[in-house]
Amino acid sequence: MPAAPTPEDRFSFGLWTVGWPARDPFGEATRPALDPVESVHRLAELGAYGVTFHDDDLLPPGSDRPAVLKRFRAALEQTGLVVPMMTTNLFTHPVFKDGAFTSNDRGVRRYALRKTLRNLELAAELGATTYVFWGGREGAEVDSGKDVGAALDRYREAIDTLAAHVKEQGWGIRFAIEPKPNEPRGDILLPTLGHALAFIAGLEHGDIVGINPEVGHEQMAGLNYTAGIAQALWAGKLFHIDLNGQRGIKYDQDLVFGHGDLLSAFATVDLLETGGYDGPRHFDYKPLRTEDVDGVWTSAAANMRTYLLLKERAAAFRADPEVAEALAVAGVADLAQPTLGAGESLADLAADRSAFEDYDADKAGERGYGYVRLNQLAVEHLMGAR
Ligand code: GCO
Ligand code: MN
Ligand code: MN
Repeated sequence: MPAAPTPEDRFSFGLWTVGWPARDPFGEATRPALDPVESVHRLAELGAYGVTFHDDDLLPPGSDRPAVLKRFRAALEQTGLVVPMMTTNLFTHPVFKDGAFTSNDRGVRRYALRKTLRNLELAAELGATTYVFWGGREGAEVDSGKDVGAALDRYREAIDTLAAHVKEQGWGIRFAIEPKPNEPRGDILLPTLGHALAFIAGLEHGDIVGINPEVGHEQMAGLNYTAGIAQALWAGKLFHIDLNGQRGIKYDQDLVFGHGDLLSAFATVDLLETGGYDGPRHFDYKPLRTEDVDGVWTSAAANMRTYLLLKERAAAFRADPEVAEALAVAGVADLAQPTLGAGESLADLAADRSAFEDYDADKAGERGYGYVRLNQLAVEHLMGAR
């Protein structure tokens, strides 16, 4: 069994996760609002290292900023918790109903930039190194109501303007765009991590812009989360992650990590632990509406314990000689070898009879790769059966 979580595990939680009072479109809140200072203390006791938040989670409109920040900073100092990531609420207030950076209303777009700028300044003061952009309201329900090309121009304008400012100020903050296919808008711009990566490639300041993919959001689009973050790692763009659970293509469930597709979660942890990701393990989940306040902390702990259990199981999978053999049978490591030889040109390949004229494609087509056996070994390690 894994040890209890410690700050070295770099687990972080949004204030809006444990603090969600469980109001949904059909029903009232089932839990009282949590004091962010209490959340900081409880998360630290449970072994987390970081807390993240939207401006309005800590500083709702009309709050006494200096007083709130003084109390919050004191809690951080007392507990040693850090603020690795911050973000802006550009979705709750009615002003954002048609979007923030991509609202058809220019005044709203300018207001959104100012709101973000104010919170970026706070992020720099608190030492955050990642700033997330989740564009929940950047989208549409009516195709003819939004000029998508113009919306992307305005999105680019916003991100580039803010990124240029971060560089000028020398804040050392990187941006992470969080994709989502839908909810709350019918269709959201940058719906998947692939769309976001393509958008980033067209930015002027894309060098400090990466992505913050969320498990459930990719799965809402029917996509393979682990394969997606592998591409983000390959592109050097996995700046942050939102871990949670989702069961199939439906509304955004934000379940505890591993409480959705567990085999996929196993593959995700295996990749995160071995694939070169060095950011926080951030949980963006919602305690079920059925839980009381004690259940909130039970569910927060469940995210971390599940991660550590999967980490243990993934390490055992990798250390198993039978797995090594199955990987060899499948030729997994062979894919790292370039297809052309060193210095070999396409003309050389065309002259190589062994590659085509004398190549026995029928025989090569008979090869079995043994992926089912490999996957069964993964399942058995996941189940603790090996
Ligand atoms: C969601 C999103 C949000 C964002 C968060 C950051 O579940 O739709 O994950 O929770 O991550 O608001 O801006
Ligand atoms: Mn979500
Ligand atoms: Mn998220």
